[in-house]
Amino acid sequence: MIDKNKNIYLAGHKGMVGSAILRMLEKNGYNNLILRALNELDLSRQNEVENFFNEEKPDVVIIAAAKVGGILANNTYRAEFIYDNLMIESNIIQASHKAGTEKLIFLGSSCIYPKLAPQPLKEEYLLSDYLEFTNEPYAIAKIAGIKLCENYYRQYGSNFFSAMPTNLFGINDNFNLETSHVLPALIRKFHEAKSGQRSEVGSNRNAGRVTIWGTGKPKREFLFVDDLAEAILFLMENVDAKDLYEQGISQINIGTGEDLTIGELAEMIAGIVGFKGEIVYDSSKPDGTPRKLLDVSRIHELGWHHKTSLEDGIRKTYEWFKTIKN
Ligand SMILES: NC(=O)c1ccc[n+]([C@@H]2O[C@H](COP(=O)([O-])OP(=O)(O)OC[C@H]3O[C@@H](n4cnc5c(N)ncnc54)[C@H](OP(=O)(O)O)[C@@H]3O)[C@@H](O)[C@H]2O)c1
Repeated sequence: MIDKNKNIYLAGHKGMVGSAILRMLEKNGYNNLILRALNELDLSRQNEVENFFNEEKPDVVIIAAAKVGGILANNTYRAEFIYDNLMIESNIIQASHKAGTEKLIFLGSSCIYPKLAPQPLKEEYLLSDYLEFTNEPYAIAKIAGIKLCENYYRQYGSNFFSAMPTNLFGINDNFNLETSHVLPALIRKFHEAKSGQRSEVGSNRNAGRVTIWGTGKPKREFLFVDDLAEAILFLMENVDAKDLYEQGISQINIGTGEDLTIGELAEMIAGIVGFKGEIVYDSSKPDGTPRKLLDVSRIHELGWHHKTSLEDGIRKTYEWFKTIKN
């Protein structure tokens, strides 16, 4: 258990993931929180990070700050994705070590697993084969973060470890069609098609029709971001670095353990939004990997399960989306 008065530095509290963790910490009585926006503290600058840690000396650190984007951004800004992420995590992890931080949780993502790894993805599959090329720089940076935590534990005994969430969605998601992930993009496309608005990009210019890239057959897993925040709280309160490393794993998966096809997801979102038009699949566009599902048996064994059904999570996200649209 963690004393509620411990001071917790949450890096990236303005992002989708960080803001969900912030709500969860506050709801659970953790009020001694240290927060800095990017314009107050650039985590890629070593001096700034060292000075900040010397002043604040946080007891607990959660790293939800990262340079994040979809396939296009990952593939276009390859140097920035590897450099910024390496700098952010290295600076924070080293400064946490020097400041005597008692516990640190680093967030990565499921893109760290090899492109052709068996499904569902077990923690042991890390570094067992080649990565997907488009997000290789991001994945390499995240793997370096995982290995920083692991090796600070192995050399210094630091209580630092990593959590790998599946695809996330929810409040504060990115609904910009040029940079968003599939689930928020579909919410927006169906909403705009239903209301007869034009989309920013894409082919759903016809109010009665939404076009989806690919065949709709790939399967994906989605976790509501508030559930992820609960998982991070659970790990912070109940799990230590040795619980992972002594089992021979370097990171722990967080997901639902359930997946569905993009076509099924589209039908579900269309139903929630109230779209009654036609859904068209553009099979000339790439499908990506056929399946991407995390094996979540380890976090289940530790005692955490997700609570929000996909449908309820999408409903909540859609309600929030309408508040920012109007
Ligand atoms: N979204 C997903 O589906 C998903 C899935 C699995 C894992 N994750 C992981 O969760 C973490 C957070 O993702 P997210 O979706 O919440 O991303 P996000 O919404 O883009 O949030 C990232 C946050 O990091 C901050 N940041 C970026 N560069 C910084 C810097 N140099 N100094 C200080 N702050 C900086 C950003 O600040 P600004 O707001 O000022 O730019 C932002 O608040 C990432 O590690 C990601 O890999 C996300």
